Amino acid sequence: MNNDDTINNNSFINIKNLIKSYDDGKIKALNGIDLEINKGDFISIIGPSGSGKSTLLNMLGALDIPSSGTIKIDGVEITKSKDLSQFRSKKIGFVFQLHNLIPNLTVFENVQIPLIGTGVSEDEIEKRAKNLLESVGLGDKLEQMPTKLSGGQRQRVAIARALVNNPSIILADEPTGSLDSKTGDIILNVLEKIHEENNVTLIIVTHEQYVANMADRTIKIRDGKIMEDCSNN
Ligand SMILES: Nc1ncnc2c1ncn2[C@@H]1O[C@H](COP(=O)(O)OP(=O)(O)OP(=O)(O)O)[C@@H](O)[C@H]1O
Ligand SMILES: [Mg+2]
Repeated sequence: MNNDDTINNNSFINIKNLIKSYDDGKIKALNGIDLEINKGDFISIIGPSGSGKSTLLNMLGALDIPSSGTIKIDGVEITKSKDLSQFRSKKIGFVFQLHNLIPNLTVFENVQIPLIGTGVSEDEIEKRAKNLLESVGLGDKLEQMPTKLSGGQRQRVAIARALVNNPSIILADEPTGSLDSKTGDIILNVLEKIHEENNVTLIIVTHEQYVANMADRTIKIRDGKIMEDCSNN
């Protein structure tokens, strides 16, 4: 999926010597990650439990800050950014492993959350949320409460919510981890379609090799280090 006109020395995401330690350095969740990702790429990250996959994704999504090293996205060093939440709300769509929907809000309200307080008008927020829910096949569930939905439907709401800010990067942490394989495939197809149609950079963390193989490129992590980085063509 690499674009021929992409200039490689000007990569969209650039990570240098990224380290994240916990417990006064006793645990090194990330231990020197170097990585370049081009705009519009579809990347999978695979590795054993505890290898640092979620930690890496959280750093990329500006949900947490590294101990040392740098992350540049679109030329901006997010590790130095003073306003990570603003960066996040402009660029990033995050699909959490356990979808994290708010149970006492409707499906429609859940999808609007990332845009509340960002200056986007109420009409525009509602329009985007409705369109996205229709595009993931949930146009008839707007007023439903999340607890009344199936696992796959909830995950589709979570995807619509991750997309409502028109992100240039989607980070998905085991988006199919809690689903049966048929429902998981539906979710993967939704993510792949968005990636292809909008040139969105898609990064998926997964335990499963067949999910990893759907990406253009697979990065294998072990003990906080990249062990393998291969193209899937
Ligand atoms: N807040 C924390 N405090 C201390 N240690 C942590 C913290 N968060 C993560 N770790 C440790 O960092 C390492 C990497 O964790 P991480 O969640 O990134 O793994 P993972 O690859 O996502 O695993 P899984 O596949 O089980 O989700 C683990 O050893 C974990 O115990
Ligand atoms: Mg994890």
